[in-house]
This record gives sequence, structure tokens and C-alpha cells, in this order.
Amino acid sequence: MATITVKGGEALGGKVTVSGSKNAALPIIFASLLTRGQSIIHRTPDIGDVRVATGIIESLGARCERSGDTLIINTERLMFRRPDDSLVSQIRASTYLLGASLARFGRAYIQSFGGCDFCKRPIDLHLLACRTFGADVCGDGIFSHGLRGGTIKFPKVSVGATVNAILLAATASGESRIENFAREPHVFNLIDYLRSAGADIQVSETALIIRGRELSGGEVTVEGDPIEAGTYAALSAITGGNITVLGVSYASLEAFFAPLLEAGAHLDTEDGITLRTLPKEQTSIVAETYPGFPTDLQPIAAPILACANGGTLEDRVWQGRLGYLAALAPFGVRYRAYPTGAEIFYSELHAADTIAPDLRGGASALLIALAARGESRIRSSEIIARGYENIEKKLRTLGAEIRIDS
Ligand code: UD1
Repeated sequence: MATITVKGGEALGGKVTVSGSKNAALPIIFASLLTRGQSIIHRTPDIGDVRVATGIIESLGARCERSGDTLIINTERLMFRRPDDSLVSQIRASTYLLGASLARFGRAYIQSFGGCDFCKRPIDLHLLACRTFGADVCGDGIFSHGLRGGTIKFPKVSVGATVNAILLAATASGESRIENFAREPHVFNLIDYLRSAGADIQVSETALIIRGRELSGGEVTVEGDPIEAGTYAALSAITGGNITVLGVSYASLEAFFAPLLEAGAHLDTEDGITLRTLPKEQTSIVAETYPGFPTDLQPIAAPILACANGGTLEDRVWQGRLGYLAALAPFGVRYRAYPTGAEIFYSELHAADTIAPDLRGGASALLIALAARGESRIRSSEIIARGYENIEKKLRTLGAEIRIDS
């Protein structure tokens, strides 16, 4: 178990370039299982979740090699087996095995898919997609004797289920329509990759229309990570610093900044992104399906509210995703939880010790620790490294006093 020790309370400044997005890289890595040949994935972040994902596909016979930030995957010789539960249970993205493994081998297993445990994470929509494209679910096994195109209209928008539907339709025979699909930029990054591998995917206002094809290796660049970018932007404002975030499109962060700007924060977007000041007024944040405020940045907003004039947080994507606030309380963060959200009050911070509750909740605690004067510790901090590349080095470059002991 790793522990991060920081000496907080200093204004941090400088330039930081974000890495490729975790949530974009992971579906692409699993999608490579559909292809026969070599795929080249530029700007793949070297983070815990990516290492687990490559471990899973290697256990199926893929060969993965890194050259700088480029990941090269060869999927010429694959062999079906049930991937190791100890790997699958570490990351949520292993649900993409349902679509990828069915498409490549005609078989998949429902396993104990992992990921952050902030609330119940059902897979009913993933299974609906499997059935729609011709697979049978039998106990924990899913089988198909050749996937066939179909029409699915999701009753609820889900990133994971949309990804699986795309993976299933990409090589299924005939034409498929996927309606009420997730429109996150990383879903389009996956589509870019699959198109480069030969997939026929059209995007209309209301549906993804996919004609199944055999796929060869593809090549794509992973987009900059908006969650990592939002984390460093928040750090700038809460430490009264001057951090410029590079390597990410402003469009991917617009929904994050909107309520902060409305409450009087000052943002600079020339030559990078710098959140110059905290909101002046109370801020109301409601995390919703894309293009709403991103749920993964909801925990990152809590330190902003606590250092400014408070406000409210509500998460309509993951209703239970406020448990991490308890990990901020030792630092003096004052909040009142109610059934649908929490009110955060302006808080006088002080150094403390805490435990990282999950990936983004842990990053939230790290932000608070960096804003609080004195020496603080975040235990179980390895969970943060699952989603942030080179976090120790990047924070040091910005002037933070930080040490990670494993
Ligand atoms: C992905 C992201 C995660 C992000 C989330 C929402 C990855 C690896 N993870 O997770 O970081 O927080 O999108 O932007 O990219 N749901 C169902 N049934 C299902 C599937 C989902 O009811 O079968 C519900 C969930 O309970 C949740 C909502 O749909 O309320 C959204 O979940 P979903 O978009 O599927 O999230 P993930 O793909 O798991």
C-alpha cells in the first residue's frame, strides 16, 4: 500500500501537459481484440488501469509493446480463455471484454468486473446489447454462433454499454442501429480507431449506424484527459497559484468550468487553460450525462467549493458518489450530506491524514492536502495512480513538496 506525503499550503505554478485520457484509451485497448494485425495507439497513458488492461489482453494472446507513449498491440494470434479474475476485478473497463471477446471468440464470461466502488454498478444494459446482437446469456457464460446486426435503443444512456454495443456491431453480419447512445468524446475516439481498422460506422443525430466488417489493425491518437486537466486546473485555483494546463481541448472541459464561471471564477484560455480565481459566490454543481457536468470531475469540484464560498454538489449519474467527502473531513472540510447531494461550506483547512477512498475521491483528498498548510498523508494512494500518469513528477514540477512511499 502506498502513501503520499505532501507539505501543502504553497501556491503552485508552471505548465503541465496532460496525458492521454484513461477513459478513451481503455475501450480502444479492448477493441484491438476485434482486429487481426497490428494496432498503433499513440498517447496511451502509462497508468495502473492501462497496465491491467494490457495484462488482460496479453492473457488472451495479444502482444503489447510500448515505445514512449505509443502502445503497439499485435492481435494476430489470440486464443480464448477465461481471463484471470484477479486482473478483471481490478478495473471497470474489463466489462468491455463482454463485447470484444464475444466478437472475436463467440464467447465471454460475466466476471467480477472491478472499478471504483462508489455505488452499485449494474451491467443489465451491457447484457441487453449482447442479446440484441445475437448472443445467449447462460449462467455466467455468454455465447454466440455468429453475431448479427440489430437495433438497440438504450433505455438509459451508458458509456460502457454503448462501447460494448459498438464492439458487437462492428464485426456482426449486416447493419445495426444503436439509439440513445453515449456521446462522450471518448466514444468518438473509439469510433476513430475502429474506422482506421476498417469499420463502417456512421453517426446521425439519433443513432450510430454500423455495417459489420472484418477489421485489420488500426492507428489512433488518444485524446488529452479532461479529468486530469480539470484536476490540475482546480489545483491552481485552490492554492492561489498559476498552473497552465496544456494538451487538452477546452471544449472537453466546458461543462466543468460552466458553473464555476457562472459563480464568478476567472478562467484564462489563451496559451493553455488556467483557472485564475475561485468562484466568488456559492456554486451549484449537478453532475449529469454528457454534455452535462462530468461525474468524474464532481469529486474534483469539492475542494474548489470548500476553498471558496461553498455551494452544493449533486450527482445524477452515480447517485451514491459523495461518500468520498468523509475522506476530506479530517482536513476541516465542512459539509452536510442530504439524500440527493451535499452542501459544502467554506472551510478553514489544516493538515491531516486520510485514506484514498477511490480514484477521483483520492485525487480530491490530494488536492485538499496540497491546499492545507502543513504535512499531510494520503494512505492507500496507489488507487490514485490508476488514473494519473506521473503524478509525483508532474506535481513536483509545479512546485509541490511530495513523496510517494510504496
Ligand atoms: C464510465 C467511466 C466512468 C464514468 C462513467 C460516467 C470508464 C472506464 N468509466 O463508466 O469513469 O464515471 O462512464 O461518465 O470509461 N447503468 C445501468 N446499467 C448498465 C450500465 C450502467 O443502469 O448496464 C447506469 C449506471 O448505474 C449509472 C449510469 O448508467 O447510473 C452511467 O453508467 P455508465 O455510463 O455505464 O458508466 P461506465 O461506463 O461504467
